[in-house]
Amino acid sequence: MSMVIRGGTIVTADLTYKSDILVEDGKIAAIGDNLTGDKVIDADGCYVMPGGIDPHTHMEMPFMGTYSEDDFESGTKAAVAGGTTMVVDFCLPAPNQSLLEALQAWDNKSSKAVCDYSFHMAVTWWSEQVFDEMKVVVEEKGINTFKHFMAYKGALMVDDDEMFASFSRCSELGAMPLVHAENGDVVATLQQKLLAEGNNGPEAHAYSRPVDVEGEACNRAIMIADMANVPLYIVHVSCEPAHEAIRRARQNGKRVFGEPLIQHLVLDDSEYKNTDWDHAARRVMSPPFRSKEHQDGLWNGLASGSLQVVATDHCAFTTEQKRMGVGDFTKIPNGTGGLEDRMPLLWSRGVNTGRLTMNEFVAVTSTNIAKILNVYPRKGAILVGADADLVVWDPKVSKTITAKHQQSAIDYNVFEGIEVTGLPRYTISRGRIAAEEGVVVAKCGDGEFVRRDAYPAVNKALSKWKELTSPRKVERKGIPAGV
Ligand code: URP
Ligand code: ZN
Ligand code: ZN
Ligand code: ZN
Repeated sequence: MSMVIRGGTIVTADLTYKSDILVEDGKIAAIGDNLTGDKVIDADGCYVMPGGIDPHTHMEMPFMGTYSEDDFESGTKAAVAGGTTMVVDFCLPAPNQSLLEALQAWDNKSSKAVCDYSFHMAVTWWSEQVFDEMKVVVEEKGINTFKHFMAYKGALMVDDDEMFASFSRCSELGAMPLVHAENGDVVATLQQKLLAEGNNGPEAHAYSRPVDVEGEACNRAIMIADMANVPLYIVHVSCEPAHEAIRRARQNGKRVFGEPLIQHLVLDDSEYKNTDWDHAARRVMSPPFRSKEHQDGLWNGLASGSLQVVATDHCAFTTEQKRMGVGDFTKIPNGTGGLEDRMPLLWSRGVNTGRLTMNEFVAVTSTNIAKILNVYPRKGAILVGADADLVVWDPKVSKTITAKHQQSAIDYNVFEGIEVTGLPRYTISRGRIAAEEGVVVAKCGDGEFVRRDAYPAVNKALSKWKELTSPRKVERKGIPAGV
């Protein structure tokens, strides 16, 4: 069955123009005027954009003594309700667990997804086995990104030597490392100090993770990536010291990418001063929300191109789960939701205010990450032959965000009460309507795994340290006797 999206204005990362789109067999078959098909989708007064890609989610993830509440079904329903048609989730092996065994568990969980998905593999420990399995992950399993946690000491954190080894392996395999950049040793020490001083409430979470802790780790990860001659993607960039590190690296020709979250762009650290324990604890995530000046820096980075992607780090916990940390903020599960609200919020706070153009909106919600993850132009593009992952966006419709009408399985929404203008009329996933005016019609199992192959072109970081990675021995004549 074919479908025509009629009467809309196509908005891509480069162009804005009026045209119809013909969809056949899940792909874009034609772009032009007066196209006909079996079904007609009315896009009058709407923008037609590539479906959003959220490269940072945690569905049903074992973490901090519990599991994140949204699974691949409720999580991807939240995605399509908000205009996102692909998510990339983190496969998280426990320390000492085989990467391939963990991947099997993620494969099983993800069979419920209602839209397309892919995985990043986390490297949470280091051994010859991990070294060997990384090759299988890239070449057989179609995963070209490896995540490293520089925080969560005693759980997921890896040391610099492990990172260097893993980054070097990524370089050999044509893969890219990702980092959660916070100095985990300093965080752990600050946490103990704060607790010893009687600071056990959720506000102490923010005090235990100051901006320089993030900035230092960013600089360190960039240095290690440079030594290993590999590009680097830094997740949830929340503050100026981190942004500054990325900006400087890029200016020096290093291929470093930065991903702010919609939460950090919209919410600030005053949330932790709220006298309601639940309110503050529900917003505990790492890195924590920052002050307005850091927020402004992130917006500037998106507009100027020093930051490339807006994600959510969707990792939703119920109030009940957050209460595991009553009396000890270090036990509050870290994470917030945002998948359903990412695009409407970014449109409202970005495009509607003039901070971002519509084309920049498409770039940072879809096209840039499709390129970075090597799935462009299958995803992130409106081109003949691309997957028909599209969002028909009505810029005039408003709503007030509330947990009462959300897809996520948790009992609150950190954006509760915020009004947004600009919402999907239709979300289309590989040619099928997945959501219509906020009502999700996609079914569990509709989503497919998207392979992401090794990307040799992105693997050419301009390292100062090439000599170090392939040292040349100096041949000398006239060697003195005894040397
Ligand atoms: O607080 C967060 N961000 N939770 C999810 C895990 C992570 O660090 O990305
Ligand atoms: Zn993280
Ligand atoms: Zn995360
Ligand atoms: Zn189901």
